[in-house]
Amino acid sequence: MSRILITSALPYINGIKHLGTLAGSMLPADVYARFQRARGRETLYLCATDEHGTPTELAAAAAGQEPADFCAEQHQVQHDLGRRFGLSWDHFGRSSSPQNHRLTQRFAQGLWEAGFLEERVTQQVYSVADKRFLPDRYVVGTCPHCGYEAARGDQCENCTRVLDPADLIHPRSAISGSTDVEIRESKHLFLRQSLFADKLRAWIDAKKGEWPLLVTSIALKWLDEGLQDRGITRDLVWGVPVNAFEWGPNPDGALPDIDGLAGKVFYVWFDAPIEYIACTWEWADARAAERGEDPPADAVWERWWRGEAAADVTYVEFMGKDNVPFHTVGFPCTLIGLNETFAGGDWKPASNQAWKLVDQLKGFNWLDYYGGKFSTSQQRGVFMDHALELLPADYWRWWVMANTPETSDATFTWEQFQQQVNADLADVLGNFVNRILKFTESRFDGVVPEGGEPGELEARLAGDVAAKLAELTEQLEAREFRKSATALRQLWVLGNQYLTEAAPWTAIKTDRDRAAVAVRTGLNLVALFAKVSEPFIPFAAEKVALAVGEAYPGRWPDAAAALDILPAGRPVAAPEVLFRKVENDQVAEWVARFGGADAAA
Ligand code: MF3
Ligand code: ZN
Repeated sequence: MSRILITSALPYINGIKHLGTLAGSMLPADVYARFQRARGRETLYLCATDEHGTPTELAAAAAGQEPADFCAEQHQVQHDLGRRFGLSWDHFGRSSSPQNHRLTQRFAQGLWEAGFLEERVTQQVYSVADKRFLPDRYVVGTCPHCGYEAARGDQCENCTRVLDPADLIHPRSAISGSTDVEIRESKHLFLRQSLFADKLRAWIDAKKGEWPLLVTSIALKWLDEGLQDRGITRDLVWGVPVNAFEWGPNPDGALPDIDGLAGKVFYVWFDAPIEYIACTWEWADARAAERGEDPPADAVWERWWRGEAAADVTYVEFMGKDNVPFHTVGFPCTLIGLNETFAGGDWKPASNQAWKLVDQLKGFNWLDYYGGKFSTSQQRGVFMDHALELLPADYWRWWVMANTPETSDATFTWEQFQQQVNADLADVLGNFVNRILKFTESRFDGVVPEGGEPGELEARLAGDVAAKLAELTEQLEAREFRKSATALRQLWVLGNQYLTEAAPWTAIKTDRDRAAVAVRTGLNLVALFAKVSEPFIPFAAEKVALAVGEAYPGRWPDAAAALDILPAGRPVAAPEVLFRKVENDQVAEWVARFGGADAAA
């Protein structure tokens, strides 16, 4: 059976993530990873903090900390929150790890030696007052396109156009506010992306129909606009140093001007995706360390990524739509540039140890907050730490997965959240589990009862359950999360409907065997629900599984046996209340605290 490698877009280190980030990458990746593990597949689910770049330096400065200290602290915070949300990472790494430094430098060297990097002298904004260059967001000024006065050097927030810091009118330093800035020359490395345009187009064309339309259309739009060569170094201190390597000659015999590149670092969008691979290396090292072993050979982690050894790996990426260009164009250029050579218009394999490109790319639209944007900088919306103060993780996990912004943007409102978690979790699933277990305790001594034969009602139920289970499995396999959540909810509903029809509380008065069949069938459904709900609501699912004893160790349920899996005589016990209802006064309080409809604008 094939192995599955899963990554979710790496969250920026600055700031605690909001529900939108969860919805657009981390949570669906987790649900998929849990599902694949439950199916018995060898699965590796990786994530890490994205730690370099100007936003990190600026956030560290605002916190009065060195970037290294700031990142170490914030990594812990995000790691802890992820764990409490049930994100089942096999490893949660850091793009600032020694492994990523090594790999980023190694990759840059490979690209240089293949002739895909070029040195160019560029015009950069320099702050005399701050005695430093001001790349990207370090410069603020007036947008040359729309006149917005607080545009950042990399992009105008108002008209969304991508900018070059040197384009800004009235530029000033984001560090000191000083307007004493000038344009100075600075040497940088450029990745010759334009060479890859046809190759990338053929690759994306081949994914049409297989990847979500959202993803292929964003990728093709970028290609249609024309691929520009891209600067992959910056005049910054915090990052992967450029000159710490033994650069070999490139095909033209030229060596890079290492002195001219001294003190520079790679651009954050160059090193961050490489961390997907470096994170696998970190994972392998961490596992060896746990066992008291030396760091393993490269082959141990490369078997997920390179050559024949990785031939059985399916690599699946999860991300929000803003990340799609970097994953369909930027990162693939890096990998293709290592795997192949390009001489005189001819692409040839460079190595039989090719790095794997993504096989399945799942992109998401936005999750909004009352129709407006969640915003980290303005602290608008629900953030992971606050969410867990209010309610257990499963409530959030369920709502987010049931409303994943797949085909269009989705919106969070407290009112709709309350309505949905109360209906699905408390009234349907929680109520079912509670009803049947309480009844078993009071009338059947808390054991799975013996006696009676399944009848017509059970035969119909078995058919319905088999159909819904097949649908759920198929939709999860296809990474259609909204449809998966719908199928799961319908499965839970089947349980309640069955119980209402079979009515063991009535049957027991006249026909104990009939009641026994109904109770046994209901308890089997409880075991089934525990198993198939686990990817979505792992904490509650564990409680439910404990209530009836593990029924599906190490495997995904088979519909044929689903109603007859629990041995008669097994003791069972009602769990404590699974899901308390969200009350109106709670919603009123949260709307007041976090903002409601009027917060959107
Ligand atoms: N930090 C980026 C974001 O949140 C995502 C980086 S994904 C990576 O938008 F692959 F580049 F790491
Ligand atoms: Zn603008």
